[in-house]
Amino acid sequence: MRSMQAWLPVGSGDPGADGIVSVGDLERPAAERLAGPIWDYVAGGAADERTLSAATGAWAEHGLLPHSMRDVSGLTTTITLLGRSLEHPVLLAPTATHIRYHPGAELETLRGAEAAGGLLTLSSLGSVVPRSFGATAAELGAPWWMQVYLQRDRSGSYAYLDDAVAAGTEALVLTVDTPSLGARDRDRRDSFGAAQGVVFPTLAHVGGEPDPVPAHRRVWNPHLANDVTERDIGDLAERYGLPVIVKGILRADDARRAVDAGAAAVIVSNHGARNLDTAPTTARVLASVVDEVAREVPVLVDGGIRRGTDVATALCLGASAVLVGRPLIWGLATYGAAGVQHVVEILRTELEMAMALTGATSVAELDRDLLLSGR
Ligand SMILES: Cc1cc2nc3c(=O)[nH]c(=O)nc-3n(C[C@H](O)[C@H](O)[C@H](O)COP(=O)(O)O)c2cc1C
Repeated sequence: MRSMQAWLPVGSGDPGADGIVSVGDLERPAAERLAGPIWDYVAGGAADERTLSAATGAWAEHGLLPHSMRDVSGLTTTITLLGRSLEHPVLLAPTATHIRYHPGAELETLRGAEAAGGLLTLSSLGSVVPRSFGATAAELGAPWWMQVYLQRDRSGSYAYLDDAVAAGTEALVLTVDTPSLGARDRDRRDSFGAAQGVVFPTLAHVGGEPDPVPAHRRVWNPHLANDVTERDIGDLAERYGLPVIVKGILRADDARRAVDAGAAAVIVSNHGARNLDTAPTTARVLASVVDEVAREVPVLVDGGIRRGTDVATALCLGASAVLVGRPLIWGLATYGAAGVQHVVEILRTELEMAMALTGATSVAELDRDLLLSGR
């Protein structure tokens, strides 16, 4: 692991000065920097990566049908989400173990996110404990959410969730799509090389003995419960009195079950195409979930969002906000906090352009009438 002194950003250290104008511009430098098992882990998807290959282009397939002759001088991207006012709807998805990408780990990510007004969710497999994350967030005045992968022994999960709640998380993001990690071939070929030596401080009690099951027969992950159901939504909501956001919904009927069980919001997600190959892109199923539950709770979405037009399309389909996963890692690994900030600022700026160019002055004005699909 690189030491704090040894870590240097790529290029000049200023992504703007280095000509990074789109989110995709960061992918190659990140791939070069993280080359090997860590890049395989970040970039990879499940099995033949069919869902992954489709993810990014799927948003553009909807097409935007712009209005002209609109006064867009009063354009604003502000939203209110679960009672919290945010400058824009570009949020940062939970991703595990940021120490792999930068010695400042999630605290560095948080600084970049906060500078760009992007709400960050801390992964329960993060490299810092919720207590220190929450302390930095409080110093910065940054709102944040805590992601939860429940463990088979729920009391083990409650131990770090108690800390997260005491440290100021405004919501719990319960990931419900990962009873098994799925056939991540790249990681299996690397013999989980990317995971070697990785410590999950929230799960110190679980023990780090190597899994004796050979990779080709391994279905279960010792860190993840395989019995999570909607009962857990109610249990968490009752125990903590905080909004429970359910992450990993692809079907309207599951969204309904989640909301009926007490979900305060749902995130349409296929886990960055890392779990079930052949699952649909989120761009394809978002509308069905919106139609089922968006009148009752906010619907968020992630997966393959790389352009402001992708954000605009998701909002037109009825999402309240979007999250990005891999791009935040690209930014963190190359420029640290400045890279994370840059990613969010690019997406926000491109969203503003897309709104101006489609004639929408507020996020609420982004609706299905602006989409070519379905006409
Ligand atoms: C390297 C990596 C680690 C991830 N770790 C987590 C995690 O700890 N918890 C979780 O709920 N989702 C995790 N995800 C999924 C993301 O939260 C998100 O759903 C996905 O990355 C969105 O797709 P995108 O990468 O195309 O933006 C991870 C994704 C990646 C790429």
